[in-house]
Amino acid sequence: MSHLRKKVIAANWKMNMTASEVTAYLTNFLEEIKTVLAVDVILIPSFTSLPKSSELLALIPGIYLGAQNISSHDKGAFTGEISAAMLRDLFVRYVLIGHSERRHLFGETNDLIHAKIAIAHRHEIRPILCIGETLEERLAGKEKQVLEQQLREALTGFSLEQLANTIVAYEPVWAIGTGKTPTLDQAEESHLFIRSTLAQLSNSTTAQKIRLQYGGSVTPANTREFLSAPNIDGVLVGSASLDPRTFAQIFLQAQHA
Ligand code: PGA
Repeated sequence: MSHLRKKVIAANWKMNMTASEVTAYLTNFLEEIKTVLAVDVILIPSFTSLPKSSELLALIPGIYLGAQNISSHDKGAFTGEISAAMLRDLFVRYVLIGHSERRHLFGETNDLIHAKIAIAHRHEIRPILCIGETLEERLAGKEKQVLEQQLREALTGFSLEQLANTIVAYEPVWAIGTGKTPTLDQAEESHLFIRSTLAQLSNSTTAQKIRLQYGGSVTPANTREFLSAPNIDGVLVGSASLDPRTFAQIFLQAQHA
């Protein structure tokens, strides 16, 4: 881990937990973690839990609110969509963009993902761009080609400052929710490749500032190992973030990594 980059762990709760359940979760989680110093924590509830979460986290330094999705449009006749301004209004600071489930279940393309990143930056919400290869692509030896294309098509045309304010999460599709993970060497190889592609899209100083997260079957037992890799600056956690005590353990592992 470079000293330049602060570690960042994120909890993606997906379509789980009502606002009341989130309230109980936050009480437990805050009790467990006590202080947040060396690590940024991003909590990403469903849209309906954002207002309550925002209220409860308002005075807590180091814990930020994220959204799971954002509209690529500013406002208007887009029934069911949530705009960047609506998220800003609730003090949302980060947004997941291009999560594997959005790509595969809801047909999101790199073009749409690019538009969502642009609108997030325009409203000063930091995107967490998720990328990753399928098992088929990995078995065909195409994972780097896939990652490069996902990065290029999503991130071309942004300023150096915008890129520096972007988080990239590497989530191999075959590792999400499966209990399977890449080896530490495989994970570091992908993150190093991502950083060098980012250097081509910007420059090496900017690429050194961009925080990279690993995601896919992260648990308290493997967090520290992933964070020991030089190019992994954080973890993005799904299933293991649904229990406040388990996610607090991940936080503590990250704190000491
Ligand atoms: P998982 O999900 O931790 O359950 O594998 C990760 C994610 O989808 O971000």
